[in-house]
Amino acid sequence: MKQHQLGGQIGTDPNVTHATHTGHSKADAKHTDPQPTMTLTPAEQDIYDGKKGDILQKAIKTVVAYGQLFGAQRLVDLGGAPHHAVSWGSDGVEPLLVIYQQLADAGLETYAPFTADPKPMDPENLPVTPEEQSTVDKVYDRMDELERLNMKLGMRNKNDWSCACYLPEMGNTPKRGDYLAWSESSAINYANSALGARTNRNSMGIDMLCSILGKAPVFGLLTDEGRQAVWLIDVKTTKIPHPEMLGSAIGLKVMEDVSYIVGMDRFLPGVNEQTSGYLKDLGAATASNGAVGLYHMEGVTPEAVEKGRGLLNDGYQTYVIDDAELKRIYASYPDLWKDEHGTPQRVFLGCPHMTLGQMTDWGQRIVDAMEAAGKTKIGVPTYMFGSIYIKDAFEKKNPEVAKKLKEYGVSIPVNCPMMWCSTPVEGAERVATNSNKTRVYTTARFFFDDALTELIVTGKLPDGVA
Ligand code: F3S
Repeated sequence: MKQHQLGGQIGTDPNVTHATHTGHSKADAKHTDPQPTMTLTPAEQDIYDGKKGDILQKAIKTVVAYGQLFGAQRLVDLGGAPHHAVSWGSDGVEPLLVIYQQLADAGLETYAPFTADPKPMDPENLPVTPEEQSTVDKVYDRMDELERLNMKLGMRNKNDWSCACYLPEMGNTPKRGDYLAWSESSAINYANSALGARTNRNSMGIDMLCSILGKAPVFGLLTDEGRQAVWLIDVKTTKIPHPEMLGSAIGLKVMEDVSYIVGMDRFLPGVNEQTSGYLKDLGAATASNGAVGLYHMEGVTPEAVEKGRGLLNDGYQTYVIDDAELKRIYASYPDLWKDEHGTPQRVFLGCPHMTLGQMTDWGQRIVDAMEAAGKTKIGVPTYMFGSIYIKDAFEKKNPEVAKKLKEYGVSIPVNCPMMWCSTPVEGAERVATNSNKTRVYTTARFFFDDALTELIVTGKLPDGVA
């Protein structure tokens, strides 16, 4: 099993070695000699020539070199606001912290206030033991440094740590057609697919440099051609498929190619408050089980509504997904718990961070199940992850449910469940999750909602679910 930089374990992540993480297939990434020349505007050329200082010069040279690798001919002005994926301060991100410090020392700030991914830990709502805390402190010994630098470089607010930044409660919602340089794969996928904004799957560090410049190189998912689909995904399931399973199937099949999904407008009327959670989870599963940056859904997502099957390239491939295919995918998931048949020790709900609708639905589901079983305490520690804004909105909107959940012992942490599982001390726990992304990057196991509900109430998985 692979070890990652924090010493924790990576689960079954299939895209570490297969994807470029740019939304552009590996086959298209070329290093040409001599490299194609990017045409810069006079203002960009001044920065490139060092007339605006050596730090900005380094930033633009890096961004230009990155773009040239993918054949970009020009830079484009960014819109919306930045969102950055670096959310943990550790020695593993030392080079980025050095760059951040240099940018801050030069007095530079991002082109608009930015949000960031959730932090790895939430001591208040998901505490660890004192012994574990000393390890956590050692692993994340540079959190204060990261927070200080982020605030200097233009972070919007010290509470703005959530991967679901695009939700209205968080308010970093790009508009259709906005050019972005984001790096959080689930947020990239949602911005591209559900909102019709345009961002590549940028790496961490490149996101910050683009945000400082307010520019990104134009290639891949920023172009009309790069947004054309090369897969037709034909959904023939008898009922609405579980978004995590549909996303997992698509990601595993297409890896990082753009797909055009048909057969879903039977179930989803469009992109709205009710469907945002579904589209978010589907997209995150495509982006983690594969490396998908964009999908179109016929009759649902904005570009598909406007352009229809004109988004399909000639010679596209077809992948049919029916009930049997989803069953096959689920059966292929490995059990990575050290004690394969051990009782789950925690339930993690929400990765990416929950929408308000999802938190409301899960809260009510747990209350109903607890009342039906006549229970007053949950059977296994349970956590619903969301931004501080979703948590506040949920508690305001559902005070009775929120009170009962608290009494039962359900917590609402604001950190990242995957990162929590990836720390050395927590990696050994048997975590049950409703997220295929948490499953892929850790040793957590994925279960369907009914099984998780029974587990939460009784502390045990239902018979036949092992
Ligand atoms: Fe968000 Fe962490 Fe999951 S950043 S998508 S909660 S892995």
